[in-house]
Amino acid sequence: MIEQVHAWVRAAKRVVVLTGAGMSAESGVPTFRDAQTGLWAKFDPQQLATESAFRANPAMVWDWYAFRREMIAKVEPNEGHRALAAFAARHPHRLTLITQNVDGLHQRAGSEGVLALHGNIFDDQWLDTPKACCLSAPVAPGNPPHCAQCGNKRRPAVVWFGEVLPLDTLDAAETAACECDLMLVVGTSGVVYPAAGLARMATGKVVIINPEATELDDAAAAVLRGKAAQLLPQLLKD
Ligand code: APR
Repeated sequence: MIEQVHAWVRAAKRVVVLTGAGMSAESGVPTFRDAQTGLWAKFDPQQLATESAFRANPAMVWDWYAFRREMIAKVEPNEGHRALAAFAARHPHRLTLITQNVDGLHQRAGSEGVLALHGNIFDDQWLDTPKACCLSAPVAPGNPPHCAQCGNKRRPAVVWFGEVLPLDTLDAAETAACECDLMLVVGTSGVVYPAAGLARMATGKVVIINPEATELDDAAAAVLRGKAAQLLPQLLKD
């Protein structure tokens, strides 16, 4: 089946790749829902990845993101990240890369124009609409950093549960899905929407790359039970 999918890649004019946490697993970044090692097996997402959790306990949530930032900063993109960046460089305008990951590893591997649906863990934003004081005075340090005058807090610029995705990014992703010849869905359990919905609206063939069963397998023309860093270099070679 790998040869078949490789032939589809070579023949496709417009390839979309949708990635999830499994894309970074071989770099050493834990996934979310893996039974033992997943972040949500150890931490309660409702206590750490919602706006109300942040308002209730800003220091705990901020420290958790600081812990993840430190962990991600220590790892490197893997062969899968690099194969995607290299393919895009060799074939301009043929690949649209959409990711649910906030780790920035695609971008660190050299991928440009990545549609990051859930934001970037290394960016911050204001919790509440900033006032003049927030924008004029230097941000006061702390857990979290905040406006020294009104106390408005800085929060990680990621999409938390119950929040809407950046509309421009989602629009561009949906357009790419509706115009693709082939979509590779790599390392996602396919349980979180609207990201997973992109695979269901794809006009081209959908290929799942995942060592485990996913919620999107029924939408696939082919399922490759394997790992991203091992399979993508094979599928993306010329
Ligand atoms: N290669 C490919 N896939 C892998 C690998 C690997 N080396 N290792 C694990 N996987 C697969 C797992 O089998 C699982 O199906 O990656 C998937 C990871 O799924 P989740 O942990 O649910 O992560 P994801 O689908 O990206 O989660 C979606 O949920 O928690 C929120 O906002 C967060 O973006 C995230 C969203």
